[in-house]
Amino acid sequence: MTEQKRKDVFEGHKKLEKNVTLLAAATFVTVAIGGVVEIAPLFWIDNTIEKVEGMRPYTPLEQAGRDIYIREGCYTCHSQMIRPFRDEVERYGHYSLAAESMYDHPFQWGSKRTGPDLARVGGRYSDEWHVQHLKAPRSVVPESIMPNYSFLANTPVTVPDPEANLTALRRVGVPYTDKDIELASTDLMAQADPDMDAGDLAERYPKAQIRDFDGDPTRVTEMDALVAYLQMLGTLVDVNSAAAQEALAEEKGR
Ligand code: HEC
Repeated sequence: MTEQKRKDVFEGHKKLEKNVTLLAAATFVTVAIGGVVEIAPLFWIDNTIEKVEGMRPYTPLEQAGRDIYIREGCYTCHSQMIRPFRDEVERYGHYSLAAESMYDHPFQWGSKRTGPDLARVGGRYSDEWHVQHLKAPRSVVPESIMPNYSFLANTPVTVPDPEANLTALRRVGVPYTDKDIELASTDLMAQADPDMDAGDLAERYPKAQIRDFDGDPTRVTEMDALVAYLQMLGTLVDVNSAAAQEALAEEKGR
């Protein structure tokens, strides 16, 4: 830049800085360009989340467990999002994919880890361990500061209107079928009651675990629902499968 040109630019900017109206207009134009660049692409892409194989809506029982998880404030001590850092991946497993929480309303990523991340806790412990741990955490982990939730095992699970729950979720984009909604009340109980016929539950909800979870086959309790939810976490998507890798590559390439 020549000396003369530098002077011209300087003078031009001086004018801009001294004229409030001009400065406001220029600021607006600058911010508007930034805004358009951020927002406009969203109108042309169908979805911000890549679908991955295996992800499915939660069963009515898992959904009930999830509601108990929220009601009891488990999220105040537990996150459900493994970040792509080496220490987290080594401790908790493959980092969380966006699609793994696509049916969460609201999501449970959390912002506090007084206890460990739970995004992949499913299958890590037996049902008996979970029941014992939830009833009296210190009986299995002596140094634990987690509260006791023994009442869950004595409280029958009650969902006033499971059909309405699934309908509401469908309205915000969770792909429950008409049949899923119709059978919601039956599915809720049949997943944890060995005396009931679960029908095609496992076909409509692949990888659904159908069994008595709380050790009391005579009734379906809140403990059944919560343990069913915990045992499902992180088990739906085979993150190491080719399909998931492909989606990941796409996600990175965008
Ligand atoms: C006050 C904080 C706090 C609250 C609230 C809390 N937890 Fe925990 N949780 C912990 C701590 C600390 C640990 C680690 C020690 C232990 O295993 O008990 C833990 C451990 C766990 C584990 C074992 C995780 C692992 O990978 O070893 C599970 C499962 C769990 N909590 C579930 C729950 C559920 C479900 C709720 C709600 C009903 C809940 N927690 C509420 C603090 C909490």
